[in-house]
Amino acid sequence: MHIDSDKLVIENLKRVVTCAPDNSGPLLRENMRALNVLNDDPVVAVKDGRVAWIGEFDRLPAVFDTAERIDGKGLVLTPGLVDCHTHPAFVRGRADEFAMRLAGATYEQIAAAGGGIVSSTKGVREATDEKLVAETTRNLQRLRRHGVVAVEGKSGYGLSLEHELRQLRAIGTAGEAVDMHTVRTCLAAHSLPMEYRGSDKKRAEYLKLVTDEILPAVVKEGLAERADIFHDKGAFNVREVVEFAKKVKALGLRLTVHADQLHEDGGGEIAAAHHADSADHLEFLDPAGIDVMIKNGTCAVLLPGSTYVLKMQQWADGRWMIDAGLTVALATDFNPGSSPVANPAFVMNLAVMHCGLTPEEALAAFTVNAAQALRLSTDEWGVIKPGSRAAFALWDVDHEREIPYYAGTNSCIEVITCRAWRS
Ligand code: NIG
Ligand code: FE
Repeated sequence: MHIDSDKLVIENLKRVVTCAPDNSGPLLRENMRALNVLNDDPVVAVKDGRVAWIGEFDRLPAVFDTAERIDGKGLVLTPGLVDCHTHPAFVRGRADEFAMRLAGATYEQIAAAGGGIVSSTKGVREATDEKLVAETTRNLQRLRRHGVVAVEGKSGYGLSLEHELRQLRAIGTAGEAVDMHTVRTCLAAHSLPMEYRGSDKKRAEYLKLVTDEILPAVVKEGLAERADIFHDKGAFNVREVVEFAKKVKALGLRLTVHADQLHEDGGGEIAAAHHADSADHLEFLDPAGIDVMIKNGTCAVLLPGSTYVLKMQQWADGRWMIDAGLTVALATDFNPGSSPVANPAFVMNLAVMHCGLTPEEALAAFTVNAAQALRLSTDEWGVIKPGSRAAFALWDVDHEREIPYYAGTNSCIEVITCRAWRS
């Protein structure tokens, strides 16, 4: 629901889970389990798109007497979720590959045979702008229905100058259409497009196209703040990632890396050495990587939706990462191949079942820590506190622990935003 008033009070709530640290910044170590909850007839008051006051109903300042009232139905209110890693600009699903995987083919075998990422590329290139925007909007709507108010959206299915830019524009337009804040990331270095396969020379030419033409054009048009690269066997190697990272920085873009997903190859460490915002996936993160990530403030973004869909044996060890002091976030990785999962609560469930997180930690990882992974202000995003963005998720549960507990269920019954919350 979008409320078009300048003053608003959300009342009749069981719990307000603020996810706000005592000070600013992400929630680390045991603080990740302390979500600063109000449970004594709490209300949240909003003015001009920002939270103005939170506290007990009886103490609500008189200035809100005239505010529009929203009935919280005795339920649990959290900040709107921040999904800090998605691939939403695709035009059709890949359920055909789902069937192939179920019959025994691996993700890498499907990709090597021209399926996978390049099959989504075909879809994007053949689609009209209208179709691309419509499908991207549909995908963001899928996320919003599950509580997401801010999303990181990557390109990476265009794999050419023209089509990478089209994807990034589509993500911006779709965000406006569904009233969602977008952080855009150019992932032209997602996979080698078919026309550049077959020789080292062509491979180098493609990477040069990415760093010398596509990314500068992205910067010129202001289409993304960040660049991403898929570091793995079968994707881009250490030398290529290092070269890419240097050029990204020189262009004034921030960096994030798909790292240590399918093999151990030092991806987390390389990302952190280049001061990436985050290293994402991390099923195979090694101890050297974790140290550099902590030292350089590179967040760990865990994407267990893809671990699940790819039927991998190795899950990211979130418990180890949190205890070591790393900033740990979770995201859906929503994409048509490895994670057709648009339900953050289900991802939280996977993180609890397989990555060693507690339910509270999983919620912290999808709110304030996800904001940190995107370098959004943790005073404004993924938290409920005076000055934060007026964007909330209302959950049909009695306790925030039940959000991941009802596995696969969408307990988010309302996303509440109000006038000027994004400006
Ligand atoms: O995050 N790892 C690489 N990229 C995506 C998958 C994209 C796709 O399969 O279309 C991921 O899992
Ligand atoms: Fe991804």
